[in-house]
Amino acid sequence: MQAAEPMIDDWIEIGALTDIPRLGSRIVNAPDGDIAIFRNSRDEVFALLNKCPHRGGPLSEGILSGHTVTCPLHNWRIQLVSGEAVAPDKGCVPIYPVKIENGTIYIQL
Ligand code: FES
Repeated sequence: MQAAEPMIDDWIEIGALTDIPRLGSRIVNAPDGDIAIFRNSRDEVFALLNKCPHRGGPLSEGILSGHTVTCPLHNWRIQLVSGEAVAPDKGCVPIYPVKIENGTIYIQL
């Protein structure tokens, strides 16, 4: 007899998509630091550590445009899909997988 595989379901429910305004964000507290959840104008959702790779600025307070967010401190632009800074700046912030099911946002830590 084969042992049952452990169920791994580490998606964490964040809340309704409509709880985040378009071009807005909210913060989720996580063990490794706050996570910024962004919703862009196309209702795409992204999750990044809320810490700019430059000097730790709060990305959740940045300006969202398409697939980038501009850090409020020194205007580095961070790509929401990869977490990488747009050249010529160099750096990368951790990103987290996101899914939306029935209008509810889930992230994976
Ligand atoms: S801390 Fe974000 S650009 Fe400097």
